[in-house]
Formats: sequence, structure tokens, C-alpha cells
Amino acid sequence: MEKKSIAVFLSGRGSNFRAIFDAVEEGRVNGYIEVVVSDNPDAKGLSFARANGIRSAVFEKPRTENRTEYFDKIIEFLDGSTIDLIVLAGFMKVMSGRFIEKYRNRILNIHPALLPSFPGEHAQRQALDYGVKCSGCTVHFVDEGVDTGPIVLQETVPVREDDTEDSLSARILEQEHKIYPRAVQLFCEERLKVEGRRVLILNH
Ligand code: GRF
Repeated sequence: MEKKSIAVFLSGRGSNFRAIFDAVEEGRVNGYIEVVVSDNPDAKGLSFARANGIRSAVFEKPRTENRTEYFDKIIEFLDGSTIDLIVLAGFMKVMSGRFIEKYRNRILNIHPALLPSFPGEHAQRQALDYGVKCSGCTVHFVDEGVDTGPIVLQETVPVREDDTEDSLSARILEQEHKIYPRAVQLFCEERLKVEGRRVLILNH
């Protein structure tokens, strides 16, 4: 089976990107990181990519440009190489319909809550405010909605009575760093089969 080519999209810290990078370096993933794309020139994840010899590209969004035009430029850029999988790792822009259509079932995202609970921003704070006893993280394929696509993997994290948004986020992040590389690994081994809303994990 050919190694899969991965494009990582990020906007900030990039800790999930680093977890995936480590998994690739350690040979746990049947793939390689072809390029890192950021909408933020100051993203820490971008510096990490540069320091580790990974090709990167910055696409800042001019105010005058709409979402479709912005993502059309990224599509054009990605068309210059073969990309099998897009990994959103803290990428803060909602993608255009055209982009999602082009990469249908080939875009993964990680969300710091157990979807469908607490989609959107500040998921950890939403979970605390709601008073749930258990939260976690979700890797899912991206569709046209916000955090609504078919679920690939989830991990639970108990909520403690003395948790703050920061402490809960930190414990969830530890689990993110485990399930995200695992989901990428499954994709690269062609073990994910999307059937409607369900993602089957094949054992071949
Ligand atoms: C993570 O909490 C992830 O769940 C969310 O954005 C954050 C990105 O963190 N989508 P990092 O940039 O990977 O450190």
C-alpha cells in the first residue's frame, strides 16, 4: 500500500500537529507530512514545521476576499502536489463548500468534547458550564456543518469538581494527542469506511 500524503492545517500552538509528526517519525503512520498550511503567519506550529524541514505555506485571508475565493486559492496550491488526507489541527477557519466537496471524507478534525455535545468554540468551557460529569474529545470527518461530520474516534475524560477550563482542557489535550495520530494511522491504512453517519473501522 502506497504511503499517504498528508496536509496539516493549523492556526496556532500545533500540539496535535506535533503528536502526528511524532507518530509519522516513529513509523506508526503509513504516510508522510507533505505540507503544513496556516492562516496565521505567527502560528507556533508553523515554526515547528520550518525547524523540522517540513514545507509550509501561509494563506492570510484578506478582508475583501470571501470564503470561497480564499479556499479556492488553497485548492489551487494543493493541486500542485498529491494530497490524500487533510488534517485540521487547530485550524480556525470554516472551510468553503467547494473545498469540503473536493476532499469529501478526506478531511479530519479534532474537537475537544464528545460530539454531538458542545460543538463550536470553547467546548471545554461549555462542558463545565453545563455540568457534565464526563467530557472528552472526538476525531471526525469534516462536512458542511460545524463539528457535525461522521465520527471516527472518541475518548472520554472525567470532569472533576475542582476543574477549571484550563485543567479540563489540559487533560482532554492529553487524550487528543493519543486519538488523533491513531485516527490518521487508520486512515492511512485504508481502514476507515464511511457509511452514512457511521465510520466503520476495518480489520484487514
Ligand atoms: C485543540 O484543543 C483541538 O481540539 C481544537 O483546537 C486545539 C488545537 O490545539 N480543535 P493545538 O494547536 O493542536 O495545540
